[in-house]
Amino acid sequence: MSFPDPRHPARLRRSVLCVPADNERALGKIASLVCDGVIYDLEDAVLTDRKAEAREMLVAHLEKSRPAGVEIVIRINSLKTPFGEEDLLDAIRLQPDAILLPKVESPADIQLAADLLAENDAPDSLRLWAMIETPRGVLNAAAIAETGRTSGGRLDCFVPGLNDLRKETNVPALPGRPYLVSWLMQILLSARSCGLDIIDSVYNDFRDADGLDAECRQGRDMGFDGKMLIHPAQIEIANRAFGVTSEAAAEAAAIIDAFARPENAGKGVINLDGRMVERLHLDQALKTAAKADAMQNKDNPA
Ligand code: COA
Ligand code: MG
Repeated sequence: MSFPDPRHPARLRRSVLCVPADNERALGKIASLVCDGVIYDLEDAVLTDRKAEAREMLVAHLEKSRPAGVEIVIRINSLKTPFGEEDLLDAIRLQPDAILLPKVESPADIQLAADLLAENDAPDSLRLWAMIETPRGVLNAAAIAETGRTSGGRLDCFVPGLNDLRKETNVPALPGRPYLVSWLMQILLSARSCGLDIIDSVYNDFRDADGLDAECRQGRDMGFDGKMLIHPAQIEIANRAFGVTSEAAAEAAAIIDAFARPENAGKGVINLDGRMVERLHLDQALKTAAKADAMQNKDNPA
């Protein structure tokens, strides 16, 4: 996909913090945190007998305080459970940026949610995110991603869920995720084939800053846009790993400057200090520069 993408130019998704909707103290902390997104969770983090209470707490919380400058996402229970539809209807009323669907396994799961959103007059700006966290979900990732291209499909972003996937497959949690990388890359390729964003899975050991840093860097090098987080202490590490370094920003500026020079007008490829630089690198450089600007606005507001 060429840049800028008119749907969400340079949207930052470096750090997306999950907060259980029935944890009053954690909910109260959100406004003071500098993450790019918040996922209010009604699913895995909430016990079955607290589902209704969690939903009520979330409605009360978001009606009185919405974090500013943060992407707001609500993770509902699967529409195959008794809780999913009511979650979805309340979520529509709360007007988040996106609804995160858990355990998505087929295009029909996305279509069902999209149909319910349309029937209930949800605005087009309300997007869908999909957790890919079951063996069938991984195998069908490409077909699921295709729904992002259909009109009314609303799909914007994938989030692999490794805790569920490990449980379903018996693959253990090992440093470097050696046996999971191929599945992650398959999910990532599926997302990119349809222009979707993709957020890396959570790192459970929230006191292990070095381990998280290593996994964030791995995720960045694999091509993820950011990381789903479970604890405030993880935000700064993810923002750093998935941010634009000053070196990368300077290099992007040099490429943009070079193509703007009159002698390079109309050229598809140029020599920049002994390196071949093509127009596709200019697209990448514009994207990096826009992300650096967005970071500047977010992290150092005027
Ligand atoms: N969002 C916002 N605040 C959070 C938070 C989160 N995800 N996790 C912890 N905090 C807050 C705590 O409330 C605490 O503040 P307090 O002292 O004012 O209560 C502070 O950060 C320090 O927390 P700490 O004592 O280190 O951890 P904890 O025992 O309170 O919580 C977890 C640990 C794992 C239970 C908690 O981080 C959590 O529930 N994370 C999200 C889990 C989740 O959403 N899972 C589903 C997706 S994988
Ligand atoms: Mg899960």
